[in-house]
Amino acid sequence: MPFGGGAHTCLGDRLAMVQMRTFLQVFTRELALSPAWPGDERVRWKAFCNVQAAGCRVIARPR
Ligand code: HEM
Repeated sequence: MPFGGGAHTCLGDRLAMVQMRTFLQVFTRELALSPAWPGDERVRWKAFCNVQAAGCRVIARPR
């Protein structure tokens, strides 16, 4: 629930989603990503979801 909920749910949720979609489109069009380390990254439990244990390091190169 990234935008909260109830009476004070985020007022910018739709704008934030459009911004994120645009950013990801440009980002993936311009850059090629590869894992920084070989093999699978460990997963750890944070708050109420699984996250990458080492921060999901990637190498970004211009396409
Ligand atoms: C990824 C981007 C964003 C995230 C993750 C996010 C997340 C949140 C969260 C968790 C809350 C609190 C909800 C609650 O108390 O239940 C909140 C409130 C709010 N957000 Fe965002 N937000 C984002 C972007 C934006 C943007 C772009 C705007 C405005 C253009 C915005 C405007 C607001 C406002 C005005 C509130 C207060 C609503 C209230 O108290 O009634 N947010 N946001």
